[in-house]
Amino acid sequence: MNQPDNLFDPGLYERLRQPLDRAETMPPWCYSSPAFFEREVDTIFRRTWNFIGRADELAEVGDFMALELFGEPILLVRGSDGAVRAFLNVCRHRGARLVCDTGRKSAIACPYHGWTYGLDGVLRGAPGMEGVADFRREDYGLIPLRLDSWEGFLFLDLSGEAPPLADHLGNLPDAFQSYNFADFVCVKRTEYDLACNWKIYIENAMEDYHTATVHRKSIGTQETTREDVSGEWDAIHMPAADTIAILPGDTTTFPHVPTLAGKPAAGTFFTVIYPNTFFASTHDCMWWLNAVPVAADRTRVIHGACFPRATTERADFAEVVPRYFKRWEKSLTEDNEISEVQQVGLNSRLGLPGRFSLKEPIVHALDNWVIERVLNGTVPAGTKPAA
Ligand code: FES
Ligand SMILES: [Fe+2]
Repeated sequence: MNQPDNLFDPGLYERLRQPLDRAETMPPWCYSSPAFFEREVDTIFRRTWNFIGRADELAEVGDFMALELFGEPILLVRGSDGAVRAFLNVCRHRGARLVCDTGRKSAIACPYHGWTYGLDGVLRGAPGMEGVADFRREDYGLIPLRLDSWEGFLFLDLSGEAPPLADHLGNLPDAFQSYNFADFVCVKRTEYDLACNWKIYIENAMEDYHTATVHRKSIGTQETTREDVSGEWDAIHMPAADTIAILPGDTTTFPHVPTLAGKPAAGTFFTVIYPNTFFASTHDCMWWLNAVPVAADRTRVIHGACFPRATTERADFAEVVPRYFKRWEKSLTEDNEISEVQQVGLNSRLGLPGRFSLKEPIVHALDNWVIERVLNGTVPAGTKPAA
């Protein structure tokens, strides 16, 4: 199968859109073509809520973080009123990028000619602008971006027009209420620059089919079942009496989250918030993975390790937490490597679609969710295949 001239002919995806047991996998070019990737950015990522980090990572007034999403420089900053805001990280004078790191400041100063903005984005100082006709500082504040949050997870909507975050999340807040994620603290952020398409990473995170092979020397086989949900998310649940965030054979002294009830108390969830945010929640901790698309074959994967605040304040936290870091480093390295191996195969222009196992319902759902939007632009909520 050579790559067709028109990648957006719906007929190319009819087999993908069949029910899981009949469907073929996504054609290889969906993972390697720059044109397909650009269409994904335009129809999906620039029009929906993108997870960008945890509010607790900006704990104090003046804490800021610079990031880049789909070529847009973005600045997150906690204001003196306690609110976290997002702005375009671009000076209103002649467009210089303002900051490129993380830290704490009392004001944001442009490195070029020294215009200075408050933590609320208001232009406070513009030296040398005296005598400029009709120049009013209040007209040249930083450009605000639409930010919303759920339990400390911060989401950005570049379009300003996405349906409300609450609609996107559906019944996710109810399902995870007993974790009390708002009280969690991100203690470590690790970034990986991977030679793979973003979908490869999320697909891998949402199926247990690979665990017996890819993770046979670390975490081992995982058996999960898909949750019935409403909203733009999906989850699989793995019953287990204790945390799975340490390697088999290791022990922990961290307590379980005391408020856990129902299914959260009975195992681990692996969750995707469409399109590209993954988090796993187990008895004593939570970790998130953000697979940020950079190019068709490049993804910046960011891993955040989060624990309840009370756990981070324990006397034995520093001694015990390396066991968790070791487990994540081992399993993530395995997933990173297999993702790059898969990309090499999918780069072939002679490759053909395959078939899904019945252990891959969310891979099928994610790929259909993507293709709906790529072909039709934005589509109403609730269009992914049901559980
Ligand atoms: S570009 Fe920022 S002060 Fe000139
Ligand atoms: Fe994995």
